[in-house]
Amino acid sequence: MHFSVSQHQVWQTLFDRQIRLLDKHGSSLFWDGFERIRFSPTRVPSIKSLNQKLQPATGWQTTRTSIRYSTADQWYPQFARRRFPVTTYIRTMDELDFTPEPDVFHDTFGHLAFFMLPEFTAFAELFAPAYLQAKDPEIKANIQRLAWFSYEFGVLIEQGKPKAFGAGLVSSFGELTKVVTGHTQLVPFSIENVLAKNKAVYSMHDTLFFFESLAEVKTTINSYLTSVSSAIESKER
Ligand SMILES: [Fe+2]
Repeated sequence: MHFSVSQHQVWQTLFDRQIRLLDKHGSSLFWDGFERIRFSPTRVPSIKSLNQKLQPATGWQTTRTSIRYSTADQWYPQFARRRFPVTTYIRTMDELDFTPEPDVFHDTFGHLAFFMLPEFTAFAELFAPAYLQAKDPEIKANIQRLAWFSYEFGVLIEQGKPKAFGAGLVSSFGELTKVVTGHTQLVPFSIENVLAKNKAVYSMHDTLFFFESLAEVKTTINSYLTSVSSAIESKER
């Protein structure tokens, strides 16, 4: 996949600005993964260079997709195979602040540092089996919502301060600034709270959910996924 000079400049501009914001407001998990993946500050990374780092670290790989916004039914079979699809689309200089559709900056810079961390991939790997096993559209929607408000937009509290955990915060200047300046309502991440909330795809969030550790959110989500998968199994017996 070829990116033009101006597209690499978009990457560089986003990268510089986001690093400055994350210096203060990035979670320690993000920085831990970021130091391991070592993105180029000036160029959109190639799939090959990403896979050379991801594969030995956690067994995950990226694949290039031209689909602009994958549905969960397209997404989770890839996830189940430890494949993370990365779009070919990149925002333009006029859309630096917020892109409603995830672009290559979101998919790589936002997500992939975390995929260098075995404790994170153990968490990410909970979702696909439960989603693929579920038949009930409501359960599928609930699983997507738990994913959305954790690895896409979850807020990690460290030393009493909100830090970027979800990829949508890591990669979006606007969403993260809104959170750290107190303009987003932060509510504890619980199954009840999250399942009552609709996700905002085409606008910024007025409410997001926080947790104090990866272990905490993993336990919360796992308890829900285990309860729905044992309900499915007992129905099938
Ligand atoms: Fe994402």
